[in-house]
Amino acid sequence: MNLGDIIKNIPEEKDLSLRARPYFNHSVEMKKIFSPEERADALESVGLNVFYFPSEMITGCDLLSDSGISTMTSEQWAALHLGDEAYGSNRGYYLLMKQIRETFGHEFFNDPSSGSLNAFIFHQGRSCEDTLFSVLGKYGSDFVIPNNGHFDTTAAHIKANDMEALDLFCPELKDEHSPSHFKGNMDVLRFKELLRISHNRIPMVFLTITNNTTAGHPVSMENIKVVAELTRSYKIPLFFDACRFAENAWFIKRYEQGYEDKTIEDIVKEMFSYVDGFTISFKKDGLVNMGGGLFLKHNGLFMKKFPDMPDILVHHQIIKEGHPTYGGLSGRDIMALTVGLKIVTKEEYLTYRISQVQDFGKTMSNLGIPVLLPTGGHAVYVDVNRFFKDTGMKPDDFGGIALTAVLLAAYGHRACELGHFAFGSYDQSSQKEIVPEINYVRFGIPRLRYEKRDLDAVAEAMHVLHECRDKIPGVKVISGRGLSLRHFRARFRFKK
Ligand code: F0G
Repeated sequence: MNLGDIIKNIPEEKDLSLRARPYFNHSVEMKKIFSPEERADALESVGLNVFYFPSEMITGCDLLSDSGISTMTSEQWAALHLGDEAYGSNRGYYLLMKQIRETFGHEFFNDPSSGSLNAFIFHQGRSCEDTLFSVLGKYGSDFVIPNNGHFDTTAAHIKANDMEALDLFCPELKDEHSPSHFKGNMDVLRFKELLRISHNRIPMVFLTITNNTTAGHPVSMENIKVVAELTRSYKIPLFFDACRFAENAWFIKRYEQGYEDKTIEDIVKEMFSYVDGFTISFKKDGLVNMGGGLFLKHNGLFMKKFPDMPDILVHHQIIKEGHPTYGGLSGRDIMALTVGLKIVTKEEYLTYRISQVQDFGKTMSNLGIPVLLPTGGHAVYVDVNRFFKDTGMKPDDFGGIALTAVLLAAYGHRACELGHFAFGSYDQSSQKEIVPEINYVRFGIPRLRYEKRDLDAVAEAMHVLHECRDKIPGVKVISGRGLSLRHFRARFRFKK
């Protein structure tokens, strides 16, 4: 018997998160070590707002976001040197065009020589949203834009342009015991009803893949197809907010029937075959520190419905970000992105990446910490209501803000409150808080940055905090309570 036949009968590892990493460290940065007292002083001096805490003082893990803090590969670092900083039509632009076509489909990036521009690069995701929605808002009034879950900046741009941002979360999301792997789906029944009553008010529809607002859960191919059929039947363009497209494709391959033998590359192509365009922040699945884009499918419904839009978008892009061939990015950034897009669809990378997130969620859950299960692709979410259930913590004590402050000061790990404070608002007339349903603290996992041991340390710190949760007081808002996107700017103080 030869060795090849023998190993056919040997099963693969039971726990994918215990597989060796598909990469090794190329270079490392030694951390500075600070004491809990030094961190507490620094955090108090910025009003307990973790966004203003100096990252150099983070001795543990910085899980504030998975966005823009990927560790780049040696190929990406090498590609930076090939960056062409020409003011027009730099070398990287053509390489990016080739890569976007290879990854998402030929129709999303016309050659600029054709005179028909449909690809717009930006320095990050929200600047694409700003451009798209500020232009779209002028095409009509009383518009509503449905989504399976708008990201906060997306909703903010829609509202800033006098349109309504509507979330259609799927019903399985609220069912803790639902075995669905696709809790990021759009609620199709509600969507059908909305189309029936209000289709004239809908200029376009969005699907966010994966659904960041619902704990990073993926969207199934089935859901994408059904939503696409519905939108097509009403001649309404469908877009992806595609920040985590590769992670979404991995979930489809792993958990959706009929896709187990397809490659990630083929699944991505199929996903994008159903949409008329997409916005993307490349700071996630572009594996880069900066970059974004807005891509319109050539001859897609959007280009047909708004034929003069590309010209208006180019104008907007030129005055806001720069010429379409660099769009607010340096030539170096574009080169790193081109390489990042080649890596991100590699199955071995995605398997490692997502099983690391799943393992972190499982470890926390096994330690009794109430996390949302199953975990999504980029983050683990702790349910703050359940965390403080038996402690008398009230909604306007903002337990999530208190928890992130204590975690950062005591153990040096930074997480992000996405709950009563970030998603709530303050009604000036009644002087009362409008409390949202969801109340989470998110642990966003940067790509290729941390190892199991680092994340185990976070889980252990959370375990200790959970055991002594009754010692964590609520916080009082000192300033910024009435602001939009207030979590980025408000200041707090502990109540007791
Ligand atoms: N859409 C989604 C789904 C996002 O998650 C983000 C950013 C954006 C758009 C905006 O992209 O940051 O490049 O302007 N999400 C980050 C996060 C910030 O922490 O979840 P951007």
